Amino acid sequence: MSRKMKNKVVENLTIERIATEGKCVGHHEGKVVFVQGVAPGDVVDVRITRGKSSFMEGEAIKFHEFSKDRIDPFCSHFGTCGGCKWQHINYDLQKTYKRQQVVDQFTRIGKVEIPEVEPIIGSANTQYYRNKLDFTFSNNRWLTREEIDSGAEFERNALGFHIPKMFDKIVDIEHCYLQGNISNDVRNELRKFALSNELSFYDIRNQVDLLRNLIIRTTSTGESMVIVQFGGDNEAEIDLVMNFLHEKFPQITALLYIINLKKNETFNDLEVVTFAGKDYIEEEMEGLKFRIGPKSFYQTNSDQAYELYKVTREFAGLKGGEVVYDLYTGTGTIANFVAKQAKQVIGIEYVEAAIIDAKLNSKVNGLENTLFYAGDMKDMLNDEFIATHDKPDVIITDPPRAGMHDDVVNMLLKLEAPKIVYVSCNPATQARDVALLSEKYSVDKIQPVDMFPQTYHVENVVLLTLKS
Ligand SMILES: C[S@@+](CC[C@H](N)C(=O)[O-])C[C@H]1O[C@@H](n2cnc3c(N)ncnc32)[C@H](O)[C@@H]1O
Repeated sequence: MSRKMKNKVVENLTIERIATEGKCVGHHEGKVVFVQGVAPGDVVDVRITRGKSSFMEGEAIKFHEFSKDRIDPFCSHFGTCGGCKWQHINYDLQKTYKRQQVVDQFTRIGKVEIPEVEPIIGSANTQYYRNKLDFTFSNNRWLTREEIDSGAEFERNALGFHIPKMFDKIVDIEHCYLQGNISNDVRNELRKFALSNELSFYDIRNQVDLLRNLIIRTTSTGESMVIVQFGGDNEAEIDLVMNFLHEKFPQITALLYIINLKKNETFNDLEVVTFAGKDYIEEEMEGLKFRIGPKSFYQTNSDQAYELYKVTREFAGLKGGEVVYDLYTGTGTIANFVAKQAKQVIGIEYVEAAIIDAKLNSKVNGLENTLFYAGDMKDMLNDEFIATHDKPDVIITDPPRAGMHDDVVNMLLKLEAPKIVYVSCNPATQARDVALLSEKYSVDKIQPVDMFPQTYHVENVVLLTLKS
């Protein structure tokens, strides 16, 4: 950033709208100014933190007028924790902006002809809607400006969420409105126990010490999985922690732990030890049971996952005789969900443990017309695979945020399935991929679904039909 720009204050900036990734936008001297934590209609003074030739980024330092669409955030951690950045915007408006994001991405990035984007399907629950949260232990608790200025000594151990853009600073969470059930109790009781027993909280910078990470997963059927990741392997201390959780929370149905001495927190390559209960939890949908293991992806808002899958199934328009490919199948949830309406469903996914669960899910539900394969999509979906399987009539694809690899998109173009249902948690990469697919496909329907109230994230389902 040029010296001239640094710390420059733009006064009385009117916030006009919300752009991608939830950033609000105003204009100053012909340049776009992105500001976090404000709402359209606010008038603010902004201190510039980053400046480029075409845009600036900044933080609001003074409010002159507040938007009429503002509401009071309900969480005491709002503004510090990066979790629910839109709590200050009423839910109806959140939904409007999410739908608009989809329209913008498809018209700006995709530049494809699209039908009217359907009104977004909102979430009945706008709080306590998540079935999974991931908390980090740290010996470097985030201190507020007031705490620092007071000069007093504070407890520095924390268990909570990362401060945005600060990998080693953790905001200590007292109450999180994202996950109900036992989540807040488990986190708070474990923190209390660890502090009173002087157990060490992870030193993220130096990558040492015992308590590293806590994952809590819950289901609508009342099951819960708690996974503690340890950054050390002191058996006596690990036993102490796990016994405490077992005794204090006998309702946990899968109590697991991992010893992770690696540099990163991912544990796909590590052993997960079952301390008590089962090594999985089970979710239910339309009478189908879905087994979820510690390494498996499952949509984090179960109620909205049902809405999403219903849209997906409706777009697929299955009559019973179709071969369906379910790409990026995870634990085979969509594959199993549509299996009764299809001749055969083939799911592909790269996490092997998820594929084991997908197969089990078919078995548990008595579905015999599914096949699942583990591997990287770009390597799996090749000519040999197609030659040894029936060609798809419908392809359902639900890739991660990065979207589909070019090789996968090219394979889809080569396969020429009559229908593609593209489910995505990132309309930007979805629009990019759809633009490539538009060589042979037209966009027939677009249905956004809100899986994550209080955030800018939006899930989107697109029906693509092969051009004749
Ligand atoms: C958004 S999730 C979709 C899961 C599933 N459709 C569902 O609704 O539960 C994306 C999935 O893609 C998998 N994945 C990511 N990259 C992949 C790749 N290169 N090849 C195959 N699978 C991949 C992830 O492990 C994850 O399970």
